[in-house]
Amino acid sequence: MVSTSTQIAGFAFDNCLMNAAGVACMTKEELAEVKDSAAGTFVTKTATLEFRQGNPEPRYQDVPLGSINSMGLPNNGLDYYLDYLLELQESEPNRTFFLSLVGMSPEETHTILKKVQASDFKGITELNLSCPNVPGKPQIAYDFETTEKILSEVFAYFTKPLGIKLPPYFDIVHFDQAAAIFNKYPLKFVNCVNSIGNGLYIEDESVVIRPKNGFGGIGGQYIKPTALANVHAFYQRLKPEIQIIGTGGVLTGRDAFEHILCGASMVQVGTTLHKEGVAAFERITTELKAIMEEKGYENLEDFRGKLKYIEE
Ligand code: DHB
Repeated sequence: MVSTSTQIAGFAFDNCLMNAAGVACMTKEELAEVKDSAAGTFVTKTATLEFRQGNPEPRYQDVPLGSINSMGLPNNGLDYYLDYLLELQESEPNRTFFLSLVGMSPEETHTILKKVQASDFKGITELNLSCPNVPGKPQIAYDFETTEKILSEVFAYFTKPLGIKLPPYFDIVHFDQAAAIFNKYPLKFVNCVNSIGNGLYIEDESVVIRPKNGFGGIGGQYIKPTALANVHAFYQRLKPEIQIIGTGGVLTGRDAFEHILCGASMVQVGTTLHKEGVAAFERITTELKAIMEEKGYENLEDFRGKLKYIEE
């Protein structure tokens, strides 16, 4: 019997696949659809303190090898997602869900996290340090000084299970520097990767999304090698208490298998979920199980992190 069950922060999930924040998670209806699919759990759209309209449309475009988006953090505000999660804690007490959040400033991030800390929320919180799409607001995790300041302040009061969503890094020195910071804190996980920020996709002579003259975060097949490199780089560098969630370029069971081989304990699906709908979870799970069966692996622990290198 092959199983794709997993654990994050000590919570059990019957499947390692879930949505990536930003896809199928803006409304309760979308979240319920993911919840009731073959996915192991869901993460909400990244919540800010208040409702946000986001950037003007068109702001998300599927393209042949992936997607480009500049949504601009549209969301229904923290209370909308927190209230739904508190409802689910009553109706589905045996399942655990993820709340994604970030403030429009460090002060707002602390206000939000203090509200979550004071609430009855018992699930997992993902602090998004990597939104590339709000004009004038840089991706936080590319600024190591600010990142360290935020984490040191957060862990002075936040005691619930917390992980961070990271942008892709592209230099070995940056993997080293980022991991050295994260290892100082009681993070439960890092999620690698958010979109590759600020790409440009052109059709005929024009961009395909309106905000920022067409610049947007790239997802899908374009980003799998970068995603796998980030998953594995942090798997090699982080203390074992910090788990890895793998996100980026997951179209097939083979892609999920590779993320786990690189060290992922959970695998998120973004662009493919947007293109295919929640049926993607069952398909990818079936494909992943077939690979495991063929290789004689019964569970994820049998191959997690066991990427092979070519000996000297
Ligand atoms: C948005 C995009 C992201 O990649 C992210 O992490 C958060 C928000 C957005 O544009 O809405």
